[in-house]
Amino acid sequence: MEYIEPPPVSKLDEEEPKENIRKGLIKEEGQHKIVIQKAQIRDVEEILELVNGFAALNLMLPRGPQYLYENIRDFVIASDRNVPVYSLTETREVLHLIVACGSLHVLWEDIAEIRALAIHPDYQQMGLGSKLVEVMQEEAEQLGIRRLFTFTMTEDFFKTLGFRRQNREELPPKVWGECSRCPKYFNCDEVGMVLDL
Ligand SMILES: CC(C)(COP(=O)(O)OP(=O)(O)OC[C@H]1O[C@@H](n2cnc3c(N)ncnc32)[C@H](O)[C@@H]1OP(=O)(O)O)[C@@H](O)C(=O)NCCC(=O)NCCS
Repeated sequence: MEYIEPPPVSKLDEEEPKENIRKGLIKEEGQHKIVIQKAQIRDVEEILELVNGFAALNLMLPRGPQYLYENIRDFVIASDRNVPVYSLTETREVLHLIVACGSLHVLWEDIAEIRALAIHPDYQQMGLGSKLVEVMQEEAEQLGIRRLFTFTMTEDFFKTLGFRRQNREELPPKVWGECSRCPKYFNCDEVGMVLDL
């Protein structure tokens, strides 16, 4: 008969303070080094955290991992290179704090939707939202898209970028696809806005 020792149990105080790593490392304004790039699979968890933080405040539509994985190629992210984040996997790879995201979803031959635009509260009013929309606009133009569309509660922000409000009756049917999945379906407080490219 053989006796096998159970594996050692990690002591609580030795565990990684997972949630505190990123939150505790945010630096003061002026020390940011922002890089914008296409999202990768490894970014999914952080994007979800960012988007669903605002969704909990009823400011945007909640998203789940399946949506993120299926649509990851739509997403652009902004990260702060001055805020290193260590991967909790064995590689201990140095990542960076994701401070903003947005996605460009092609709906039809001539129209694409801007979805899930979210800027971390500590990084708002710095031009980051405008910059992400500009990046997605350029991508839409390269694809041959002629019109950008968004459903939003922040009409004034999109107005500053040249978007105009469009009446619900004038919106193409393709834009309503997401609405059937929205908890606010029967009580929608968002407005549709378009930008001709
Ligand atoms: C709305 C949001 C995307 C704006 O991003 P941001 O990086 O803070 O915006 P910018 O710094 O690029 O601001 C651009 C302009 O819009 C204005 N603006 C920014 N947020 C605004 C808001 N909530 N309401 C009205 N105007 C706003 C700015 O004052 C600025 O105007 P200016 O050029 O005249 O100075 C960001 O605040 C956010 O993520 N909010 C929470 C989630 C959300 O509401 N997403 C909206 C898409 S559904």
